[in-house]
Amino acid sequence: MAQTSAGNPDVPDMGRRQFMNLLTFGTVTGVALGALYPVVNYFIPPSSGGAGGGVTAKDALGNDIVVSKYLASHPAGDRSLAQGLKGDPTYIVVEKDLSVAAYGINAVCTHLGCVVPWNASENKFICPCHDSQYNSEGKVVRGPAPLSLALAHATVADDKLAFTTWTETDFRTGEAPWWS
Ligand code: FES
Repeated sequence: MAQTSAGNPDVPDMGRRQFMNLLTFGTVTGVALGALYPVVNYFIPPSSGGAGGGVTAKDALGNDIVVSKYLASHPAGDRSLAQGLKGDPTYIVVEKDLSVAAYGINAVCTHLGCVVPWNASENKFICPCHDSQYNSEGKVVRGPAPLSLALAHATVADDKLAFTTWTETDFRTGEAPWWS
C-alpha cells in the first residue's frame, strides 16, 4: 500500500507518516497487550501439563508447583493450599511416605463457601464461618456443612502436579461425587 516513489516528495512523506503511525500503533498495541497479558492469562484456564482438561497446580504467586521442591519443604501429613481446578483453593495432601496423595481437597466450604483452613493440631479442617468440620480427607464430620469437601485427582508428571476432575465414586462416602 505504501508507495515509494523517489521522484515525488509527497510520497515519502506519506510513507513516513504511515510508518510513524504504524510504529506508534505497534508500540501502543504492544504496551496494551503487555498490560493485558496477566488479565487475559487469568481468564484462560492454565492447562499445561494437565491431562483431560486438568490444570497444573500453582502456588500463591501463580507459579507451577515443582513437586520435588514442594516435598522438600512440606512434611508428611501437611495440607497446604494450591490453586486448583477453576482457580479453586485446593489442598495438596502429603502422605506419610512423603509422596503427594492422589487426591486434592477443594477448600471451599460446602455450607456457604468460606475457605476452610487446615487445623493440624485437631487433624481436621475447621470452617471459621460457622464451625463446620471435616476430617483429614475432607469428609464432613460436623455441620452445618451438608456435604464433604470436593475432591480432585492429583497426579504427578515431569515433577509437576496436575489436578483433574474427580468423576468417580467418592472414596470417603462410597457415593457418587456431588460436585460433578
Ligand atoms: Fe463453612 Fe458456614 S461457610 S460452616
